[in-house]
Amino acid sequence: MANDSDNWGSLGGDTTLGTELGAVDPATLLDRRPIPQPDPLDRHGPARIIAMANQKGGVGKTTTTINLGAALAEYGRKVLMVDFDPQGALSVGFGVNPHDLELSVYNLLMQDDVGIADVTYKTNIDGLHLLPANIDLSAAEIQLVNEVAREMTLARLLRPVLKDYDYILIDCQPSLGLLTINALTAAHSVLVPLECEFFSLRGVALLLDTVDKVRERLNFDLELEGILATMYDSRTTHCRQVLQRVVEAFGDKVYQTVITKTVKFPESTVAGVPITVIDPASAGARNYRQLAREVISAQTDR
Ligand SMILES: Nc1ncnc2c1ncn2[C@@H]1O[C@H](COP(=O)(O)OP(=O)(O)OP(=O)(O)O)[C@@H](O)[C@H]1O
Ligand SMILES: [Mg+2]
Repeated sequence: MANDSDNWGSLGGDTTLGTELGAVDPATLLDRRPIPQPDPLDRHGPARIIAMANQKGGVGKTTTTINLGAALAEYGRKVLMVDFDPQGALSVGFGVNPHDLELSVYNLLMQDDVGIADVTYKTNIDGLHLLPANIDLSAAEIQLVNEVAREMTLARLLRPVLKDYDYILIDCQPSLGLLTINALTAAHSVLVPLECEFFSLRGVALLLDTVDKVRERLNFDLELEGILATMYDSRTTHCRQVLQRVVEAFGDKVYQTVITKTVKFPESTVAGVPITVIDPASAGARNYRQLAREVISAQTDR
């Protein structure tokens, strides 16, 4: 996708919804072009690094990292997921007990004698690896402040493994602090999960301002990978209005794939297994597989 910052401003601070659905039916906007089946790969890397970011909490960043990661791996891609949230929800989502971790992303960031291989955890899914985190990571936010090139730390640490993976997905915490800036500096692009409810639009302008700043000062090639509507309930007019507004504001940047609202997601998190594995035929699993195909085909087009 092109680096189209003009388009980003089109939200223009206006986060109101129309009182009724206009001529644009979201269903037609979400069926714009065919999504091809991915070709198998005979070699891997270099990785495209995608940061899952939204400073609003509970919008589906972690759920998207887990299930997009698992779906990309299903398509034969090698994927590294980075838990960059001290809550450690991504790690828990793969059955890792955060208190049992001897080494985590925190040690990787703060100790020169710890390498990425020392921290990499292989999930039960072929080709899907994880850098786990726990509450220790919250200290890194403060300790990193005194480091030289503090915003570049994660980018520097990921460099040795870029050749080994096709995708690196960074699960950001719900803030725009130094950890998230590190993720945005390391990334090629940002994927913004957006909950289909009224207030979700408000924070996006601020997030995109931050992305603009990081692009101007630290990471000139940073792109907007896409905007993903999550927790979508097609039965409610409200949800459809929000989606319509998002598509009006961001056009082609909005994925055709929309993630359905279903209790299967919280259930799969509790089970410590991606929905694509625990319930492969469910709507949620199909949604994330389609998203994986969109992500792969956008990269092929690039
Ligand atoms: N499509 C969905 N339908 C229903 N529930 C969902 C869906 N996606 C995520 N959830 C649930 O919503 C909650 C928040 O999701 P998630 O943890 O992925 O968000 P997050 O953006 O990572 O949150 P945080 O900002 O706290 O890191 C979780 O309990 C998750 O299981
Ligand atoms: Mg999260």
